Amino acid sequence: MSTALQDFIKNLPKAELHLHIEGSLEPELMFALAQRNGVKLPYASVEEIRAAYNFSDLQSFLDLYYAGAAVLLTEQDFYDLTTAYVQHALVDQVRHVELFFDPQTHTARGVSTETVFAGIARALRDAKREHGFSSSMILCFLRHLSEEDALQTLSSALPLREQYADLWNGIGLDSAEVDNPPEKFARVFAQARELGFRLVAHAGEEGPPAYIHGALDILQVERIDHGVRAEEDAALMQRLAKTQMPLTVCPLSNLKLCVVDDLSEHNLARMLRAGLCVTINSDDPAYFGGYMNANFIASAEALDLSRAELVQLAKNGFCASFATPEQKQIWLDELEAYAAGPR
Ligand code: ADE
Ligand code: ZN
Repeated sequence: MSTALQDFIKNLPKAELHLHIEGSLEPELMFALAQRNGVKLPYASVEEIRAAYNFSDLQSFLDLYYAGAAVLLTEQDFYDLTTAYVQHALVDQVRHVELFFDPQTHTARGVSTETVFAGIARALRDAKREHGFSSSMILCFLRHLSEEDALQTLSSALPLREQYADLWNGIGLDSAEVDNPPEKFARVFAQARELGFRLVAHAGEEGPPAYIHGALDILQVERIDHGVRAEEDAALMQRLAKTQMPLTVCPLSNLKLCVVDDLSEHNLARMLRAGLCVTINSDDPAYFGGYMNANFIASAEALDLSRAELVQLAKNGFCASFATPEQKQIWLDELEAYAAGPR
């Protein structure tokens, strides 16, 4: 790829809509936090941690992801984790993130929901004040656990809603997809919808197209996280195009978790060219080999994306966000000026 195209991508204004904050835990910080907190890791060095990142599927990743999250204990840990992500996002010209977090990963270890909220929110508020960085928080339920557990998680977080009203506006669904279909979470999503939360769910990453239908029809989500298996269902593809339902696609994640064997086989470009509202995101950047720019650059290279397509992908990210129409317009104006600018 030409350096001119690389520079064009690096400076393109972006929104990130699919980012698990626990998945941005770099081995260096994991090691440092393990030492700070006296947590024993099954690795002797940062290099050993990185060497373990050889995944065969989603579950093989999740096992390491949950093990790594064990070093996160204090409010300061969540602050440091989130601040480190923001630094990467700023370098990558990300203007806005809608950050996923998994309270159940932490409450199961005795870390309170309050601690998780407090650390992440303090970092995001500092980022807003210091850098004008925009963000919101999406609380995700772990789908390998029961709906009762999700209902309990929602009720334990609700008392914090007012305190974090500037940030927490969404509910999502993640973790092991296969055998944990959307309908398992129908009641808790109905409750979240009645409470006025914006709704998203992982669907069609490893699970079948039926799970995407379920996320849309039963959970009534406003975005599909991943959704790449939609391509197996022509009627679903038409529905997604017609409704402009956003898909938060994560190319390097799909590569590392063997959803695709090679990035050149990824359907991101096919779906974009079929008129779907596709966005590019990093998912778990510390585990999958890169943040937003790495995902954009690898995709552009493997799929021969044009500048116009790259701009469309960035535009989709802003349009599919849960920001206000006024805020979206500011970003879209900036993007348009950038795309039209001299190079
Ligand atoms: N949790 C973190 N990353 C995930 C992914 N790619 N799919 C499902 N759950 C996740
Ligand atoms: Zn994800």
